[in-house]
Amino acid sequence: GCSGFLGGSDAIVPGTAPGFQPFEFREGGELVGFDIDLTEAVFAETDYELAEWETFEFDSLIQALTNDRIDFIAAAMTINDDRDETIDFSDPYYSANQSVVVRDDGSFSPSELGDLSGHPIGAQSGTTGEGVIQTELIETGELEESNYNSYDNYVLAVEDLQNGNIDAVVIDEPVGETFASQRPVEVAFVYETGEQYGFGMRTEDDDLTTAVNEGLAAVRQGGTYGELTSEWFGN
Ligand code: ARG
Repeated sequence: GCSGFLGGSDAIVPGTAPGFQPFEFREGGELVGFDIDLTEAVFAETDYELAEWETFEFDSLIQALTNDRIDFIAAAMTINDDRDETIDFSDPYYSANQSVVVRDDGSFSPSELGDLSGHPIGAQSGTTGEGVIQTELIETGELEESNYNSYDNYVLAVEDLQNGNIDAVVIDEPVGETFASQRPVEVAFVYETGEQYGFGMRTEDDDLTTAVNEGLAAVRQGGTYGELTSEWFGN
């Protein structure tokens, strides 16, 4: 929320990009997932109120934050230098690598990135998965730029994979595994990137960042973090 001139109402507006199960997705119209529950648990440890969630495409979230349309990003967003120039991140709250997801009919079984050469592939716009395709395949000349398809969200990318319009999707491994448990697709291999997710906040909102980090530490120590990971990841 707008920093209340009249005092009182300064609820924080959280923003996310659904279609990224189990972190944020819709279930019967309701926004659910690990990031949603973790955000609520973290804020319950702070003096800040949490307003209703706003949703955007992933590649619009940082702009939504800097334009004050939201105050907080919880979107399985990887902490990286590029983003860190524009926004501040909380302490890391989850680790992930990339995975390469294919149809589970055995029609195409790549075992390393180079095997994607010559195949139409996809990722979500603005993600680190798209970054891997750019830097490891397109910039190295292994993949024609025209073979790369950028999607507004990963649900559309996986649908195009199922339809045979593309042959692989590069996606965060926990999400690739979740799609594999729900659809006729499978994780062909993992590409290690050692990413860490953080919550995003405006650089000037230091007090919020401090409170969120304290809240996150309390949620870890109090056992809620462990309960949420077993609920959403079964481990
Ligand atoms: N971790 C990846 C990144 O930061 C993908 C995040 C996509 N998140 C989402 N809610 N769609 O680029």
